[in-house]
Amino acid sequence: MTKEEKYQTIVPQIQALMTGETDEIAKMANMVAVLHETFGFWWTGFYRVEPKAGVGELVLGPFQGPIACTRIPYNKGVCGTAWAQAQTIVVPDVHLFPGHIACSSASKSEIVVPFFRNGVVFAVLDIDSADLNTFDEIDRIYLEQLSHGLI
Ligand code: SME
Repeated sequence: MTKEEKYQTIVPQIQALMTGETDEIAKMANMVAVLHETFGFWWTGFYRVEPKAGVGELVLGPFQGPIACTRIPYNKGVCGTAWAQAQTIVVPDVHLFPGHIACSSASKSEIVVPFFRNGVVFAVLDIDSADLNTFDEIDRIYLEQLSHGLI
């Protein structure tokens, strides 16, 4: 199966898995599990926006893979930048992204997709690969289908 065929198979599965469940953490956990198992990524997980004084920060949520940084400030790293810009960021080579936060030296490329509720980013989905150039428009298009209204 091509990458696109895999997404075409799992996106409806994930949509069905989310139906009927209201708990945010439970839904994030299952979404991460499907993506991680299907593609064999290095690290797949959520960072949730923790509102507090000022703009808040990202806090580690459900994930699969090695241990990771627990907190990421607004506008820092790929995750904090995707949150601040409210836009997906595809990073073909993490070493060329200024301010990239290296949770693992094995991570070589990355995609971060903001998740929205009522037009506001409430979490980001971060996927890391141990290879360069893993993510492209196909990943962006299908992962963004998961990012509005499902969680
Ligand atoms: N590389 C990310 C940090 C999170 S870990 O990769 C899991 C970043 O720069 O935001």
